[in-house]
Amino acid sequence: MPANVKHATHLLKPLRLLLLGAPGSGKGTQTSRLLKQIPQLTSISSGDILRQEIKSESTLGREAATYIAQGKLLPDDLITRLITFRLSALGWLKPSATWLLDGFPRTTAQASALDELLKQHDASLNLVVELDVPECTILERIENRFVHVSSGRVYNLQYNPPKIPGLDDITGEPLTKRLDDTAEVFKKRLEEYNKTNEPLKEYYKNSGIFSTVSGETSDIIFPKLLDLITSKFGQ
Ligand code: AP5
Ligand code: MG
Repeated sequence: MPANVKHATHLLKPLRLLLLGAPGSGKGTQTSRLLKQIPQLTSISSGDILRQEIKSESTLGREAATYIAQGKLLPDDLITRLITFRLSALGWLKPSATWLLDGFPRTTAQASALDELLKQHDASLNLVVELDVPECTILERIENRFVHVSSGRVYNLQYNPPKIPGLDDITGEPLTKRLDDTAEVFKKRLEEYNKTNEPLKEYYKNSGIFSTVSGETSDIIFPKLLDLITSKFGQ
């Protein structure tokens, strides 16, 4: 267990969690913290998977890059096929699995395709949490963000800087800027998010598993998120 986690949290029931939130709201940051805190948990981030495909210059990566560089969402069928293939390959399609999704589903079409698949395996989502962070807070974070593409680890020069400037803490490999973290593309991503988020929220509110956690920083949000999870899934 990492030194900064005093007491690991053990869940008594399988958790299948989706994190929603604007670009830069901290989905990746909260995911890393939850993975450290809850040993049973595993996660995937659609954005991380796409960045790995871009790095490896695969056909899919080349196609994804054209959308990502413009701050646009990939077509629903393409991303749905990619992620559902991963879910199956990871062995997540079973009732006992505990996992977290970051960045997928993003639209109601993706959400209903996922629901259908999960229902067939008796492994439906059982918690959807929206990270609600003021937009003004988010904008200033992005300029300072650096990522380690292979692992998806996220750094911020002010909030959580790497131990050695420019290098990943675990592997020592170089950190990079995301191609969609420019002010112009970020604005477009926020617009896309604001278009798709309301219908998606409505979709999950209707399913009765939706909660919102609000706060200006990830340090305020994390304990609230963890409390929410332990209150529903046991400690
Ligand atoms: P994706 O990678 O999912 O990006 P996103 O949703 O835009 O979210 P981000 O990763 O930018 O933000 P985050 O919430 O993870 O924040 P983070 O923790 O890094 O998607 C990228 C693209 O892929 C999309 O635009 C789309 O083209 C495509 N795509 C992906 N999924 C898709 C789908 N389902 N359908 C179609 N297309 C899809 O935090 C942000 C920064 O803040 C970091 O630097 C962090 O260190 C810092 N930070 C965190 N907390 C604090 C704090 N308390 N104080 C200061 N800084 C902080
Ligand atoms: Mg992210």
